[in-house]
Amino acid sequence: MIEIRDEQEGEHQEIRQVIVAAFGGDIEANLVELLRDRNKAPIALVAVSDNTIVGHIMFSPVTITLAPKAYRAVGLAPLSVLPELQRQSIGSMLAREGLKKCAEAGFKIVVVLGSHHYYPRFGFSRASLYGLDNEYDADEHFMAIELKHGALDKVSGTVRYSPEFKECGC
Ligand SMILES: CC(C)(COP(=O)(O)OP(=O)(O)OC[C@H]1O[C@@H](n2cnc3c(N)ncnc32)[C@H](O)[C@@H]1OP(=O)(O)O)[C@@H](O)C(=O)NCCC(=O)NCCS
Repeated sequence: MIEIRDEQEGEHQEIRQVIVAAFGGDIEANLVELLRDRNKAPIALVAVSDNTIVGHIMFSPVTITLAPKAYRAVGLAPLSVLPELQRQSIGSMLAREGLKKCAEAGFKIVVVLGSHHYYPRFGFSRASLYGLDNEYDADEHFMAIELKHGALDKVSGTVRYSPEFKECGC
């Protein structure tokens, strides 16, 4: 039985281990810690099985050049599941619950830079179709989802992640 819930103080080291195991390196774990330390992670969830953390997801604010200043958008990154427990829907549970929490928190859209085979199942589609580009020159791998219908109707431009991404080498 998998429980999806907010990450808590006291489990940051365990989360780090999950992220390092999933990615095979520490760049993404460093990013998560920096974003958290700087209060730039409004939504961060863990997947828990038998009192053990087996997955993690984080969302952090992004800016969009041609959006109103108060426009609230976040990027999904990173998403991690322990290698031995992948392909058992844990990543999907984290993504779906995360998107729900983003909507409840009032964010209008979520962007993601990742596999275009994986993320469309949650409702993401190619961001360039909405007139959104990115700093990484990604096309089909850069995707967006509207959390409110029409949220991207009058918004376009370059999406920028928090500076911590570059700081960590992402
Ligand atoms: C990506 C990841 C979070 C998916 O978690 P998961 O629990 O294995 O995913 P689910 O069980 O919900 O979904 C499995 C599906 O995702 C696909 N999938 C998993 N990882 C994938 C990847 N890196 N690229 C493309 N597809 C992937 C599987 O092929 C499977 O597809 P299917 O349903 O069509 O058979 C997990 O594989 C992981 O931690 N990977 C390493 C870190 C990473 O690359 N994170 C994503 C980038 S931010």
